[in-house]
Amino acid sequence: MEKLTRSRRKFLKGIAFIGIFGGLVWRFLVPSTSNRKKALLEVKKSDIPLRGALVFKRSRVVVIRSEEDVYALSLICTHLGCTVNVTAENLICPCHGSIFDRKGNVMKGPSDKPLERLEVAEQGEKLVVLV
Ligand code: FES
Repeated sequence: MEKLTRSRRKFLKGIAFIGIFGGLVWRFLVPSTSNRKKALLEVKKSDIPLRGALVFKRSRVVVIRSEEDVYALSLICTHLGCTVNVTAENLICPCHGSIFDRKGNVMKGPSDKPLERLEVAEQGEKLVVLV
């Protein structure tokens, strides 16, 4: 009888060990779900004028509606991180004068990288900018 109790304890310890060890292995091998993008802001499609833009200074994002599509750009300058200003024709950094076109491409340095294009998801009448 004692032998049976001992082997049952061994079995339960083995199961506990496998559970704990398996959990640790799972934690390191399976990517974390924190890689999912989060909604930075929401905007109604109808609020964005055609060939116009909505600027969200606090989030440092501009949502632009062209003839073809709607897209969002980060207003963080790719040179040293100043907030880029949006004009009717382009985007201008007030710090060192980089100029970007409405697609975020560099027209004039010192910045040598385009503005970051942010993912936009459509949810019915809403657009959600994801980061
Ligand atoms: S931080 Fe924008 S040009 Fe330097």
